[in-house]
Amino acid sequence: MIHQSKSYIKFIRLAKNRHGVHSPFVYDLVTNCFNDKTKYPEYETLKKHRKALRGDTSKFEMKDFGQGSRVFKGNARKVSAVIKNAGMKKKRQRLLFRLAKYFKSETVLELGTSLGLGTVALSLSNEFSTIQTVEGCPNTLQKAQEYFEKFNLHNIQIHQKLFSEFLQNTHEKFDLIFIDGDHNGERTLEYFHSLLKNVHNNSVIVFDDIYWSKDMTTAWQQIIANDIVTVSIDTFQWGLVFFRKEQAKQHFIIRIG
Ligand SMILES: C[S@@+](CC[C@H](N)C(=O)[O-])C[C@H]1O[C@@H](n2cnc3c(N)ncnc32)[C@H](O)[C@@H]1O
Repeated sequence: MIHQSKSYIKFIRLAKNRHGVHSPFVYDLVTNCFNDKTKYPEYETLKKHRKALRGDTSKFEMKDFGQGSRVFKGNARKVSAVIKNAGMKKKRQRLLFRLAKYFKSETVLELGTSLGLGTVALSLSNEFSTIQTVEGCPNTLQKAQEYFEKFNLHNIQIHQKLFSEFLQNTHEKFDLIFIDGDHNGERTLEYFHSLLKNVHNNSVIVFDDIYWSKDMTTAWQQIIANDIVTVSIDTFQWGLVFFRKEQAKQHFIIRIG
């Protein structure tokens, strides 16, 4: 927690808005995606999906394969409580939707499904895309899947596997990869290295919670220092990396309004 607070103070001091950005690629991304205030009709579906989960008081046995929860003790969880305490916030969910839409992502990978708030945002961004989402806990995935079906989302493929298992066996290229689970620095770095076979020139990888802990921040710093990464963007909660060879290596710190 102290690491997060100190990092946030530093972030605020260094962060720029779009006017401080001199890269046309990043300027456009900030203007037309990060700061896009359009009220997309899909936001209504996101709202209905979240509301349905928040109203679901059924309990399930959850095994968290990541760093565990800072809120919950034990394994029995109410769906509504998981959404309230651990679910992705509305603003981020909308941003994820816009990112996938802005980049016209057709092949998408999410590591960490949980109850599917991120998955649904990715799914709605383009009905012709394929979203592959990976989750270790079978019961959590089953709950998520129930709601994907209720909301008629047919472009989602679920994988009940450990991230490392899935990554070993996949050689597909992805346009967008969202890593939202297992906030362990060493393993995050391993996922990044393993994913290098799955990216192309225009791929983007989004890392959640880069300031979760000191080791996550160290992993993030090692990722952006890698020669293969050209543009990197720190938005505090998320770190984005790009591999565009036509772009000079440059790091941006951007506060999303
Ligand atoms: C923060 S939650 C994901 C949140 C979700 N993306 C959302 O939009 O609400 C992280 C999930 O990743 C799963 N997870 C963490 N580490 C994993 C691993 N190594 N293999 C498989 N699943 C893992 C956890 O069980 C948990 O459900």
